Amino acid sequence: MRSRITAVALMSGLLILTVGCMEQYDPRRFWKQTKDERELAHRPLQKLTAKGEIPPMEAAVAEVDPVFAKYATMCASCHGEDGKGNGAASGGLVPKPRNFHDTAWQAKVDDAHIAGVISKGGTPYGLSGSMPPWGAVLSQEEIEGLVKKIRLWGKK
Ligand code: HEC
Repeated sequence: MRSRITAVALMSGLLILTVGCMEQYDPRRFWKQTKDERELAHRPLQKLTAKGEIPPMEAAVAEVDPVFAKYATMCASCHGEDGKGNGAASGGLVPKPRNFHDTAWQAKVDDAHIAGVISKGGTPYGLSGSMPPWGAVLSQEEIEGLVKKIRLWGKK
């Protein structure tokens, strides 16, 4: 009986030791470290926050181009990163999100119309209700910035 208890105690001791050692040599924590370092290395030059910390990724992108940051988070899912109307969420939509490179459409609409659709959504313009209204979350300047960005795609 006693030897059995000793054997069990020994085995548990060995198991704890093995797990402990494996933990020490687990490479996964280095994977994360390497990934973080790689991300850091690819960030554009930026100012530290008031506390001397590195600002989060979104802040870095927003600092480079605030309109790009808005477009990337609010519009690209449907209209696509490059404005071609083929974003990840565009698949099931009928009609498809507008392709901003469509020069015939660009010629047909004025800036006020584009700004209006961004602000009020598709419905009041007789367009698809899948185009959401953004007036509550975007400022007038941000909407104007987006209009300019959309117009640039029409010139290429
Ligand atoms: C959930 C998907 C979705 C998102 C997100 C979205 N849109 Fe749209 N958008 C659409 C669809 C669908 C249409 C096409 C409406 C139609 O043709 O009836 C459209 C149409 C448009 C049009 C063209 C209107 C016209 O005259 O044909 C503009 C401009 C536009 N979107 C801008 C934006 C901007 C800027 C954002 C981000 C702030 C945005 N959209 C986000 C789905 C989306």
